[in-house]
Amino acid sequence: MKSNIILALTGLATTVMARTEIMLPLYAAPGGIFGSAEWNATIDAIRANPDMHFYVVINPNNGPKNTSSPGNGGSCNLAGPDYIEHGCNKDYSTNLARINALPNAQTVGYIYTRYGDQNNRSIDSIKEDIAEWALWDNATTWNFNEIANISIHGLWFDETGTTIGNRSEYEELTSYARDVFATTGPSPRNQFSIIMNPGSNPQTDYEPFLFAMADAVVTRETCWTSVPSDPSDPYGDCLGDYTPYDYREMYQGLGNRTAGLPDDPALNSKAVVIVHQVVDPPEANNQTLYEQILGTVRLGVHSAWFTSGNWSQETRLPASVGVVSEFFSRANREVNGG
Ligand SMILES: *[C@@H]1O[C@H](CO)[C@@H](O)[C@H](O)[C@H]1NC(C)=O
Ligand SMILES: *[C@@H]1O[C@H](CO)[C@@H](O)[C@H](O)[C@H]1NC(C)=O
Ligand SMILES: *[C@@H]1O[C@H](CO)[C@@H](O)[C@H](O)[C@H]1NC(C)=O
Ligand SMILES: *[C@@H]1O[C@H](CO)[C@@H](O)[C@H](O)[C@H]1NC(C)=O
Ligand SMILES: *[C@@H]1O[C@H](CO)[C@@H](O)[C@H](O)[C@H]1NC(C)=O
Ligand SMILES: *[C@@H]1O[C@H](CO)[C@@H](O)[C@H](O)[C@H]1NC(C)=O
Ligand SMILES: *[C@@H]1O[C@H](CO)[C@@H](O)[C@H](O)[C@H]1NC(C)=O
Ligand SMILES: *[C@@H]1O[C@H](CO)[C@@H](O)[C@H](O)[C@H]1NC(C)=O
Repeated sequence: MKSNIILALTGLATTVMARTEIMLPLYAAPGGIFGSAEWNATIDAIRANPDMHFYVVINPNNGPKNTSSPGNGGSCNLAGPDYIEHGCNKDYSTNLARINALPNAQTVGYIYTRYGDQNNRSIDSIKEDIAEWALWDNATTWNFNEIANISIHGLWFDETGTTIGNRSEYEELTSYARDVFATTGPSPRNQFSIIMNPGSNPQTDYEPFLFAMADAVVTRETCWTSVPSDPSDPYGDCLGDYTPYDYREMYQGLGNRTAGLPDDPALNSKAVVIVHQVVDPPEANNQTLYEQILGTVRLGVHSAWFTSGNWSQETRLPASVGVVSEFFSRANREVNGG
């Protein structure tokens, strides 16, 4: 889907860099018929930036299925009155249909894979989630029970293993996913993307294989702020050790797990960057945010995301979904012209 476009202008050839699109983990609950603040703001941002492609990661329950206890808010809860066999519940179906109605949005289903530890999560249980996502198709909504389109057009493999020993498991899973979606999954737009999230560089010997089986790989997931979150901050999910994000410190891997970019620069166009907790310090404001977004687009990566909150919080400033989407659109124009 990414390509370098060569423009021939009166004998001069100009190379235009690949665009950096939006990779948005929308883990918040969608709300009811009118949508939660997070989903509303996301839908507004997708509409306001028609030049950007949005991969929107949907995650009701650490995956698509009823794995919740009845007490946890009821996502995909069999006992809930609004339960939908393939589609979680009417809050999801109603709001997912709003996203599917937007031509520049591509819904992607969440799956966790426990870094290839098959004792923790078996290949079969991961395949069950893949098969389930492929069955999300049409469902009733809160809108007078209309039948709406809740189809899913890709998968986000979270907690992806990073070593060559993981190769066979992930090859099996990704080829299974492509088969299942090609046969039962609704993808008339011909869009199906597999995004792997190891959160850091894979080991050098594994890199070509991992990138070959995926459409995109998150090689850098980190925080902005240099100060670990206060454990009492409800949005704070930067508690452990991490290296704060700075595009100037993104290096081609050369075997370095914190380098951020692949060993092979030709794979930059399949690399993804995710930055949470865009809050002080260092200074987090429109200017520093735009500087980092522009620098990230100049790296030529596939897609990226910045948020001031955690993955369930898209409206906190300065890096709200609206501002970040506008800045990516502007940065792509600044880098590529137009
Ligand atoms: C979402 O937007 C709708 C209008 O489109 C509005 O009625 C609703 O209150 C909004 N939800 C929140 C939580 O603000
Ligand atoms: C599914 O939901 C029902 C009803 O809430 C619950 O009894 C059951 O344990 C859930 N199943 C799983 C696998 O969590
Ligand atoms: C459902 O929505 C997706 C995403 O917009 C679209 O590709 C697909 O054609 C729609 N399916 C139907 C049956 O309209
Ligand atoms: C499975 O993995 C999760 C997350 O990495 C971890 O918290 C949990 O302890 C693991 N469980 C087992 C049985 O290894
Ligand atoms: C889903 O809705 C579309 C459009 O109304 C229809 O063509 C298709 O047959 C429906 N699919 C299912 C499985 O009901
Ligand atoms: C997958 O990689 C992880 C480290 O990312 C390792 O702990 C695990 O043993 C690997 N699985 C296999 C089957 O080699
Ligand atoms: C993210 O923030 C929301 C809103 O404060 C909170 O409910 C949720 O527990 C947080 N999630 C994580 C993973 O920190
Ligand atoms: C930051 O940028 C956004 C998007 O352009 C704008 O709406 C907002 O007013 C700006 N905030 C400040 C404090 O300048």
